[in-house]
Amino acid sequence: MPYKTPLHADAMTQPSRPHRNFYGRFKGKHLKRSQQDYINEDLTALSPGPVDWDVNPDRTPLDLEARFGTRPVWLEVGFGGGEHMVHQAAQNPDVSIIGCEPYINGVGMLLGKIRKAEVDNVAVYAGDARDMFDVLPEASIDRAFLLYPDPWPKARHHRRRFVTPEHLAPLARVLKPGAIFRVATDIPDYVRQTMQQVPRHGFTWMGETPEDWRVCWDDWISTRYEQKALREDRVPHYMTFVRNETPI
Ligand SMILES: C[S@@+](CC[C@H](N)C(=O)[O-])C[C@H]1O[C@@H](n2cnc3c(N)ncnc32)[C@H](O)[C@@H]1O
Repeated sequence: MPYKTPLHADAMTQPSRPHRNFYGRFKGKHLKRSQQDYINEDLTALSPGPVDWDVNPDRTPLDLEARFGTRPVWLEVGFGGGEHMVHQAAQNPDVSIIGCEPYINGVGMLLGKIRKAEVDNVAVYAGDARDMFDVLPEASIDRAFLLYPDPWPKARHHRRRFVTPEHLAPLARVLKPGAIFRVATDIPDYVRQTMQQVPRHGFTWMGETPEDWRVCWDDWISTRYEQKALREDRVPHYMTFVRNETPI
């Protein structure tokens, strides 16, 4: 057995940062002054804990109970302008909601809405959901939302979609058995890929007929992206899955 120096030992125990392509936008042309102020003033206090690789290189799982107490924790991936996240937080004061969004202008919009609605049961990670999944404990999340994920309409870009193993496997790991996973999209081919891929990762669709796709959830608030889709005559589809009790 060759002798291992401490350096070797570290290299064997510390995860190395995976290469993750991100094809979306981190920043738009104009970040409003007010939004920059919200980011400077509010974002640190709303952190869910150490998520980024530079502050958590060994990917220690977050202590959700220390951060949120014993309340159920929900997760919204790609919250855009944050209207749905703030709406859910206001409707569900006994739940904590973590939102992930790499687009900093969207983060600024959300922070403005959080101030206005005065909700205190939210946490914000201004980054990629995959980095968040790394540090969420297994079976720790009670509900997840994926609302109008980037459509990537060209066939050669379908592998960039969220509903691919790279995202769904870690999402399934962090959701509790019995947790709800909601997906909304205006792209029929995204419905196809979602219905094909999500059940392969340990979820069961809760609908019975394709007509169920047409009915929005009772507690729904239309998002910015949905409003745009409706203006452009695209049809919203709503899918609800439950995380299976048995392992994948
Ligand atoms: C089409 S927009 C929809 C925004 C919002 N959910 C809505 O309905 O208005 C998709 C959002 O997902 C975000 N997104 C893309 N990849 C992501 C990732 N890996 N993690 C978190 N958010 C992501 C994008 O930055 C973008 O804001």
